Amino acid sequence: MEKSENMSRGDILVIKDLRVWHPVRKLLSIVGYVRAVDGVTFNIPRGRIVAIVGESGCGKTTLARAIMGLIPATSGSIIFEGRDLTKLPRTIIRKWYTGQVGLVQQDPYAAMPPFMTVKGILEEPMKIHGIPKEERSKRVREMLTEVGLTPPEDFVFKYPHMLSGGQLQRVAIARALILRPKLVIADEPVSMLDASVRIEILTMFRELKEKYDLTVIYITHDFATAKHFSDEIMVMYAGQIVEIGDARDIIKKPKHPYTEALISVLPDPDPQNRFTIKKTLPGEPPSLINPPPGCRLWPRCPYVMDKCKREEPSLIEIQDGRKVKCWLYA
Ligand SMILES: Nc1ncnc2c1ncn2[C@@H]1O[C@H](COP(=O)(O)OP(=O)(O)OP(=O)(O)O)[C@@H](O)[C@H]1O
Ligand SMILES: [Mg+2]
Repeated sequence: MEKSENMSRGDILVIKDLRVWHPVRKLLSIVGYVRAVDGVTFNIPRGRIVAIVGESGCGKTTLARAIMGLIPATSGSIIFEGRDLTKLPRTIIRKWYTGQVGLVQQDPYAAMPPFMTVKGILEEPMKIHGIPKEERSKRVREMLTEVGLTPPEDFVFKYPHMLSGGQLQRVAIARALILRPKLVIADEPVSMLDASVRIEILTMFRELKEKYDLTVIYITHDFATAKHFSDEIMVMYAGQIVEIGDARDIIKKPKHPYTEALISVLPDPDPQNRFTIKKTLPGEPPSLINPPPGCRLWPRCPYVMDKCKREEPSLIEIQDGRKVKCWLYA
């Protein structure tokens, strides 16, 4: 397998100009494409928690599924540990890559086979990777303890419908970690849970990240949890990344008009300001079948200029580690 020369040191994952378009079919012909991920470039430094934040439908799950190798890239590269996934044969992806990257999905009930016990669910990936029976049983007990489902004997023979949403999401995290991956993609792992359980699970996840030396991509529509849980934030709008930076810096001083609008509607801890009118963007995100020319935000942007309607800005670095895709900064 060829090692990519362009991989910067310390990055576990490098995404280059990735496009993932879903075909829209009418009868047997393709009549268009949903450009769910459309020209995305970023890198994930080893050992960090990077949040991808964006509204519903902006392409977060499509991006996660493409990185997992579950759907094909339309174009561009997904370079993991120096190897371009888009050029690897399916057998290598199944035998090697699926052990390196774990996925926690948004809806734990939909993600778990209802007819399998917790033990069966956790053992399945290990069977595919040829891990012997004794080791499998040991790891199942170990991981259940790690995710706080103790004693493990009380959980191994339960079926998904016998567990609460929080318990099931703990099983999902155990399954994602059971092959000892290097990278975990958590797609809205707590969005369906109660607020109190959310914090508990994210705190546990952070501890597991330290213990197992993981890199985490945390996908969410919620800036508040991204701020507490992640080191870095990438903001996604209409299939593209519009801003990247240190989590606390972005929240304190957003640069892109879209980030600014999302952050302005976060609840204000100051009771004096809690009920002041916030900046919101008019209108809706654009159609991803027929996105507007130029910058995709221009029909909603309070700072729109003529150029924005014609030419697409690039994502450029404006200061240490902060990248913005906006003509205001070009
Ligand atoms: N298999 C598919 N075929 C056609 N279009 C799809 C498919 N999967 C997703 N889409 C479309 O692609 C766009 C991005 O969807 P995606 O699920 O990636 O967004 P998301 O950011 O994860 O949204 P959410 O926050 O609601 O989970 C949406 O317009 C969606 O309707
Ligand atoms: Mg999603």
